[in-house]
Amino acid sequence: MIQETIVITQNRFGLAHIAPMGIYTPSGSQDDFIILPFRPSTTLNNLLASKTAVINYCDDVRVFAGCLTGRRDWPLTPAEKINGQVLDCALAHTEVELVRIEDDETRPKLFCKAVHNVNHAPFKGFNRAQYSVLEAAILISRLGRIPLEKIQAEIDYLRIGLEKTAGDRELEAWSWLMAAIENFEEDA
Ligand SMILES: Cc1cc2nc3c(=O)[nH]c(=O)nc-3n(C[C@H](O)[C@H](O)[C@H](O)COP(=O)(O)O)c2cc1C
Repeated sequence: MIQETIVITQNRFGLAHIAPMGIYTPSGSQDDFIILPFRPSTTLNNLLASKTAVINYCDDVRVFAGCLTGRRDWPLTPAEKINGQVLDCALAHTEVELVRIEDDETRPKLFCKAVHNVNHAPFKGFNRAQYSVLEAAILISRLGRIPLEKIQAEIDYLRIGLEKTAGDRELEAWSWLMAAIENFEEDA
């Protein structure tokens, strides 16, 4: 299964880097995670240097949309067992260590093991607007690589769930993503 998470890594000077990442979790395992960054990637460089990361489970979709639209400055707190940083708004997080890498010129596989799990707040159920924002954020990460008409058609569909179920956080995240598409269209 792939879980959409926020991965926080640190460079060798201790500077935190926040990035949405789909983490592969092999079925039957609670402790194994595969992080799959596309090259070039700051997450990849940092993980290779520090051998640690924090995987944050977060329902504030502004973090996902924000990272894709230049808003990477989210409040952080030091991790408990590794040298790393945790997202303050995470519902839970897992501190991991890199155990093995399967290299690839496009998308290496970084095999990680959990060293510490922490719950911060309860999961309050699924929300369609959050799904819409996540999907739109993925589309925005592919601007220039897939046709704009396809992106617009998918956005039109995702807007249905958004308009029926969004709260303030989802509406704000959506507005950042729509502005990114408009900017892209103006520059094209
Ligand atoms: C929900 C979601 C999942 C993503 N999953 C991945 C992923 O698995 N690998 C990846 O390289 N980029 C992924 N991205 C895009 C990256 O977050 C974004 O391009 C990132 O800035 C690039 O990686 P870097 O910050 O490590 O350089 C995802 C974006 C979203 C919104």
